[in-house]
Amino acid sequence: MEERMEAEQKFRQEILDRVARIYELREQDRPFVPGKTRVHYSGRVFDEKEMQAMVDSVLDFWLTLGPKGKEFLTQFLSYTGMRYGLVVNSGSSANLVAVGALCSPRLENPLGPGDEVITPALAFPTTLNPLLQNGLVPVFVDVEEGTYNLDAGRLEDARSDLTRAVVLAHTLGNPAQMDAVMDFARRYDLYVIEDTCDALDSRYDGKLCGTFGDFSTYSFYAAHHITMGEGGAVLTNRLDLYRQALSLRDWGRDCFCRTGEQNPNGACGHRFDHTYESLPYGYDHKYVYGNIGYNLKPLDIQCAMGIEQLKKLPSFSEKRKRNFRRLYRALEKYQDSFLLPRSLPKADPSWFALPLTVRKEAAFSRRDIVRFLEENQIETRMLFAGNILRHPGYRNIRHRVCGSLEHTDDVLLNTFFIGVYPGLSDAMIEYVIRTIDRFMS
Ligand SMILES: Cc1ncc(COP(=O)(O)O)c(C=O)c1O
Repeated sequence: MEERMEAEQKFRQEILDRVARIYELREQDRPFVPGKTRVHYSGRVFDEKEMQAMVDSVLDFWLTLGPKGKEFLTQFLSYTGMRYGLVVNSGSSANLVAVGALCSPRLENPLGPGDEVITPALAFPTTLNPLLQNGLVPVFVDVEEGTYNLDAGRLEDARSDLTRAVVLAHTLGNPAQMDAVMDFARRYDLYVIEDTCDALDSRYDGKLCGTFGDFSTYSFYAAHHITMGEGGAVLTNRLDLYRQALSLRDWGRDCFCRTGEQNPNGACGHRFDHTYESLPYGYDHKYVYGNIGYNLKPLDIQCAMGIEQLKKLPSFSEKRKRNFRRLYRALEKYQDSFLLPRSLPKADPSWFALPLTVRKEAAFSRRDIVRFLEENQIETRMLFAGNILRHPGYRNIRHRVCGSLEHTDDVLLNTFFIGVYPGLSDAMIEYVIRTIDRFMS
């Protein structure tokens, strides 16, 4: 037995050494050729450690969510200081689980169909979709010019007797005005979900984004601050919310035992000796369904990658901030043509990207500059949906709009973003600056 384990360990090490070698080979001879090499807006940044961690996990052959998931979550909770959390297979799933949990009949004070939720009209679709999927009514408000975040000054006007929650994203990593949002939510006893998918490691008033509301959601898609390929997480400080979120992720089951829980009586101690409504006495708690759920778990292999990525987060954020600063300084001279992004005084963003809004007075259109940049191999993106209400899929949704959506429409018409992600070298950033200079001259 011992001999077999030793042999396995030896083979495993050989494999991992070769994986590191493959990484080295791939990294060799990848010069940046201005105008030829694509300058992506974002991408995965990794080294041999992620590749080895994933291969190692494949060799463990656990496959489903297990020890690596637990380790990642422990570290993620310790980093955020939040009490409870679960990993899911995407940021979209994280939002689905968070909203679903607030609607769970198992909660003391759940949201129900027709309840209103205040949210910005400038949206990534799956921040909004779970509201619609759960029969809630979004009440759209405008975003602020330049921060691209929900305008907290509109909250009072947007409220009605039906208002039960606020759902917002920290747009492109730029922290929303969380003190005002939380004051408003406390005043009217509202739930708050922070979509932190683009804002990992951003802070507001010294506190991490995602640690203010009832739920925070994260995406670990390849474009985000850290990645598992695909993946996400949901965090909360409330045990009752955590239990319903977990239930929804795991088929709707009532039991909250961890995978591989050894206690034969289950985590609650009553796996086989309880009566659940009209179910027979002693019906296995693992097969009692308290919610109409999903299965949104990621694989353990993904979490193995997440563990390595989390270690790199401080250096990733530093690089994002540095790239943002360099681009911002270089573009300041073009403020007559571009609206540059701004952050609130208490905000410390770990930028996802740098948004630029082409001013009406500019001698060119967004289409002109986007086309020029793309032709010169610099990738651009629109600021997600812009005004989501103008998209065909949302034509017939039940909703309310509070006030004008002037800035949201401006984003739809005139905003785009370029990358600041840690995979962009100094030479690439210089090239982006020179290319914009060329366009502007
Ligand atoms: C603000 C926001 N929320 C949610 C998501 C969805 O995340 P995922 O792609 O992991 O489903 C994204 C995706 O980029 C996003 O930007």
